[in-house]
Amino acid sequence: MRILLISILGLLTLASCTKQEPMEALIDRVFTVAEQQYTAMDTRLTEKTLPRTLSADGEFVSSNIYWWCSGFYPGSLWYIYEYTRKDAVKILAEKNTLKLDSIQYVTKDHDVGFQLNCSYGNAFRLTGNEAYKQVLYQGAKSLSTRFNPAAGVIRSWDFVRKGCDWKFPVIIDNMMNLELLLSMSKAYADDSLQNIACTHANTTIQHHFRDDYSTYHLVDYDPETGAVRGKQTVQGFSDDSSWSRGQAWALYSYTMMFRLTGYQNYLLQAGHIADMLLRRLPADGIPYWDFDAPVEEQTYRDASAAAIMASAFIELSRYIPGAEAKESYLAMAEKQLRTLASKEYLAEPGTNECFILKHSVGALPDKSEVDVPLTYADYYFLEALLRYKNLQ
Ligand code: GLY
Repeated sequence: MRILLISILGLLTLASCTKQEPMEALIDRVFTVAEQQYTAMDTRLTEKTLPRTLSADGEFVSSNIYWWCSGFYPGSLWYIYEYTRKDAVKILAEKNTLKLDSIQYVTKDHDVGFQLNCSYGNAFRLTGNEAYKQVLYQGAKSLSTRFNPAAGVIRSWDFVRKGCDWKFPVIIDNMMNLELLLSMSKAYADDSLQNIACTHANTTIQHHFRDDYSTYHLVDYDPETGAVRGKQTVQGFSDDSSWSRGQAWALYSYTMMFRLTGYQNYLLQAGHIADMLLRRLPADGIPYWDFDAPVEEQTYRDASAAAIMASAFIELSRYIPGAEAKESYLAMAEKQLRTLASKEYLAEPGTNECFILKHSVGALPDKSEVDVPLTYADYYFLEALLRYKNLQ
């Protein structure tokens, strides 16, 4: 009798150990960590700085407002406010958003969309304050000055990398900036912004993608004729490889293009990219930093790419026809979120220099930001969790 009782108790314990945490509880657990970490993060910043990453020796690194990632910290604070509805978080979100006021006039690179849409875009969405909207519109107009009608694309970088002879480089990441153009086109009935966004997205479909729907990182155009001068992958393993974050930007941005235009070709493109990713992602859903990097014990994962993909898979699952695709996109997103919320990736409160996630890769070929926390991994992770919660 005693042995039987012990066996039953043992089985019950085993069952409770293997039971999956409900997603609602997981989301709540992550937002508790996020609130603690990101509230403490603010004390490390000045009026002119924002968090960036950790140095190779584990020291906190901040950035000025012009770094392409400056909008992610305020954006994450807005997501934490959206979840918690705490005024103290809202005050931090407002304060850190306003640091970026002068970004609206930047015309020297394409990242204005990332910077303003995540910060001011979420601020406007959650407060309805018109002052935020005016900054977004000015930012969209500044970004649109970089459009070249002959090439049909917005220029990404003004600098030329050593050893390259770029004339008009455009990176796949640039697709993400189109959300600012489309949302402001709608808000101000300004068709010119939508025309630029759609032309850029169409040209990118034509030239950035390979037959298997993976994407090059960079296409260089002749600004006079629009001819393609070259294709390469600057932050990835090789020119012909599939740099993971580039694939994530592609999935996310064509899903977003469908949301904001309703054009079926964007939904089709997003579906093809998603299917390519489902075929190639590892079992735990977290890509290596490049899909074509040789996989060895030391090969780094990129949590940022997983977080961006998870957010995109969830959104795409709402639009794609066909139950099978919906289910497989959601199943992958859930897997990615569960892995990111595990001890391996999610920081213990009070560690990780106040960042939320560990193990992202910025630019491995430059030995920059390798296996570190990055603000955009945190941002898209929180966004994905909110999107998942809102599906219910
Ligand atoms: N250039 C943005 C990125 O590293 O993904």
